[in-house]
Amino acid sequence: MFAGRVICLAYTRAAMKRLVILISGRGSNMQAIVDACARERWPARISGVIASRPGAAGLTWAEAQGIPTCALDHRAHADRAAFDAELARTIDDLGGDGQGHGPDLVVLAGFMRILGEAFVRRYDGRLMNIHPSLLPSFAGLHTHQRAIDAGCVLAGATVHLVTPELDHGPIVAQAAVPVLPGDDAASLSERVLGAEHVIYPRAVRWWVEDRLEVQGLRVLHSGGEPQWLFAPQVE
Ligand code: GRF
Repeated sequence: MFAGRVICLAYTRAAMKRLVILISGRGSNMQAIVDACARERWPARISGVIASRPGAAGLTWAEAQGIPTCALDHRAHADRAAFDAELARTIDDLGGDGQGHGPDLVVLAGFMRILGEAFVRRYDGRLMNIHPSLLPSFAGLHTHQRAIDAGCVLAGATVHLVTPELDHGPIVAQAAVPVLPGDDAASLSERVLGAEHVIYPRAVRWWVEDRLEVQGLRVLHSGGEPQWLFAPQVE
């Protein structure tokens, strides 16, 4: 007769990491993360999706998955600080544990608002972003056109932890894709996006599994999977 401890393989609710995802538009990275979380049975749940635009297409998809959603219109707020404060309240409401702790991780997935220093510091170490370039090259906007104009033959995407300096935090993972003759910003962005959908869920999973160690600007991953992806295949 089995007399040992009862081993429960299911994660308890308390052990589940609470993730809140912020979007602004179609939310394809959000979908990739939500899908991977369910498919790979991460010890995590998506506690909410918040959009910075009321009509964001990704909200409809998230609602259809039964995820609590909210839209905050930055134009309805007096200034950046007021918007950031309301955003933080909403994040902590959706992702809180009911005992005063906010979410374990806030995931920026195509969130097109610059966040102020106070907001970033509030979520220090638990704020992740994906940027569509190989940082530190091409921080900011119009990354694909700028990579083409600079004559780059490689472009890509970077998952990083967010610090107050825009697009400059510790790098968790990067993916490189070729820039092909004849590419324009749209075709390159589509190729990069395909790679984003691979590395972003992977990086969030590493964080959920406590496999990341931050040393200054370097992030070390323990677990055997590479922190880089070369995606030379062309559809
Ligand atoms: C992605 O390319 C992301 O890197 C950038 O904005 C785009 C968002 O796409 N910040 P989606 O909303 O995830 O489909």
